[in-house]
Amino acid sequence: MKYFTILALLAFTIISCQNKEMLKDSIHNQYAEDHRKDHHSFSNPDQALTTNLFLDLNVDFTKKIITGVAHFDIVKSEGASEIIFDTKDLNISKVKLNQKIESKFTFGPKDDLLGQALHIPIEANTTLVSIYYETSANSAALQWLRPNQTADKKHPFLFSQGQAILTRTWIPCQDSPGIRITYDAKVKVPKELMAVMSASNPTVKSEDGVYNFQMKQAIPPYLIALAVGDLAFGSIGTQCGVYAEPSMLEASVYEFGDTEKMLKVAEDLYGPYLWERYDIIVLPPSFPFGGMENPRITFATPTIIAGDRSLTALIAHELAHSWSGNLVTNATWDDFWLNEGFTVYFERRIMEALYGKEYTDMLALLGFQDLEADVQHIGHNHADTHLKLNLKGRDADDGMTDIAYEKGAYFLMSLEEKVGREKFDDFLKTYFEEHKFKTLTTEEFVEYLEEKLIDKYNVETNYKDWIYGAGIPANCPIPKSDKFSSIDLLINRKLKNGYLEFKGSENWNTHQWLHFLRKIPKNTNQEMMKKLDEKFNFSNSGNAEILAAWFELSIKNGYYKNIKSPIEDFLVSVGRRKFLTPLYSAMKEADDLALARSIYQKKQNQIIMPYLFKPWMRY
Ligand code: BES
Ligand code: ZN
Repeated sequence: MKYFTILALLAFTIISCQNKEMLKDSIHNQYAEDHRKDHHSFSNPDQALTTNLFLDLNVDFTKKIITGVAHFDIVKSEGASEIIFDTKDLNISKVKLNQKIESKFTFGPKDDLLGQALHIPIEANTTLVSIYYETSANSAALQWLRPNQTADKKHPFLFSQGQAILTRTWIPCQDSPGIRITYDAKVKVPKELMAVMSASNPTVKSEDGVYNFQMKQAIPPYLIALAVGDLAFGSIGTQCGVYAEPSMLEASVYEFGDTEKMLKVAEDLYGPYLWERYDIIVLPPSFPFGGMENPRITFATPTIIAGDRSLTALIAHELAHSWSGNLVTNATWDDFWLNEGFTVYFERRIMEALYGKEYTDMLALLGFQDLEADVQHIGHNHADTHLKLNLKGRDADDGMTDIAYEKGAYFLMSLEEKVGREKFDDFLKTYFEEHKFKTLTTEEFVEYLEEKLIDKYNVETNYKDWIYGAGIPANCPIPKSDKFSSIDLLINRKLKNGYLEFKGSENWNTHQWLHFLRKIPKNTNQEMMKKLDEKFNFSNSGNAEILAAWFELSIKNGYYKNIKSPIEDFLVSVGRRKFLTPLYSAMKEADDLALARSIYQKKQNQIIMPYLFKPWMRY
């Protein structure tokens, strides 16, 4: 323990320590403690810890590999004899210590989920460990896209996705969210392309294809990210901008026009934005997520570009991660709700401040519907419906359900309801301030909650039911929406009796349409489905959320046989998991695996998606 203390003190001095408070706190930051043990990493931060990374990389689009060196500054306890890194599907050619001595290295046994531990013996004076390596065709974090898989169809594209445990497939590292490092990078790419990272970024292409990056705030390795493509930059404010392929730039600049306002509102709520710039990159449609909160540059799916700014809650979400997630990070993936639950709560506060309560209640209600569906699917009494998870021996991504997102957000709403908005906002603001650039476990949060909210204001809460209990607690503060209730009435009074005149529907926003589509009875007959499609043209909607909801309903009631081609077009190009999972599982339930397979086959020809290997098998 004594060694650890020295180690932790050193580490925090080197990383980002600006004040004594943090030095003192770091002593508590004991990787050795039980609840801090990360079952998804082989690394040994309690003995030897990486603190800074310098990456020197070459991106080879012909071979579809990245080659290079990862130089790590390390700190260690006195007796430490080795440092352990996480690796998966990497070829390591050489390891050097202190830039001079070539060192031996060994691998631990291969694990399908976690990859392989890389053991490097270290000396008393070792401060720098350099790992020479290349990625492989299996490196799951990387998607290499051919020109025809991009918007402009002229140049290839590459992007990385590190969360949850994929960074180790493109950089050997101590791949635990409980560890923070700063990084610099030098990346060489083909001259016609631009590279961006979760760091300081260029706005124009370089002459020679070489780019230098710096991330001087310490971040967990899952947030190291790279994208390379024919990118152009458009400014959307003094602090914000958009990167996109040239043909997508104008639409993207319009769609995200409110970003800087969101940033200001967020700062007013929970304190200063500590990452300097906030930019967004619009990726090709195979990107497996809606958005990914890579620091300084959110990676986003093009499926939120609806032309009317109706899907930008996603930007509020990724921006909110600049506090919840990137500033204060879940120490392990069992604590994932600390990232996502806080972020959904925060996202809705941003939306409320900008677009009002009525609008935000609709978002929250759609979220509640998702939560109910997930609880139903997982099982009301199942431990996977606890906020605090136990993912030992399982894929870290198994925690990516609406439990973390929506149950987490509704838990915070229940606390807000208990103490009132003013006190709750004070609590959150102080929480972010006191834990910035730190990682937190659920247990540490609970301790903080008890002291700074429950005891302070002398209130009773059922936080244990929310965090360690199953299902949705009875005090879940579900909002009401008149707008949604009137849609429910229309469905009962009209649609069920075959009438299609919905007065007022010309003014519905995307969320009203989504609610409508979700509430259409699953057994609606083919004739009615056809009429609905003719009248509202759902199958050709330019809004991906509406398309996905309509396709799901159509698959469930058999209408899909009439609209196979738009369904196929959508599924062949789009990689967003939130859309694919329900659509493939609906096909599975409709007993049409042949369709699922044929679409997936085409997808494989067009889009390489190692991340979503055979989704209809998994769900
Ligand atoms: N950080 C997540 C994405 C993620 C989670 C990637 C876990 C890998 C593992 C991101 O912030 C997110 O939640 N994205 C959502 C959108 C959001 C508005 C709910 C998505 O991609 O659908
Ligand atoms: Zn998120």
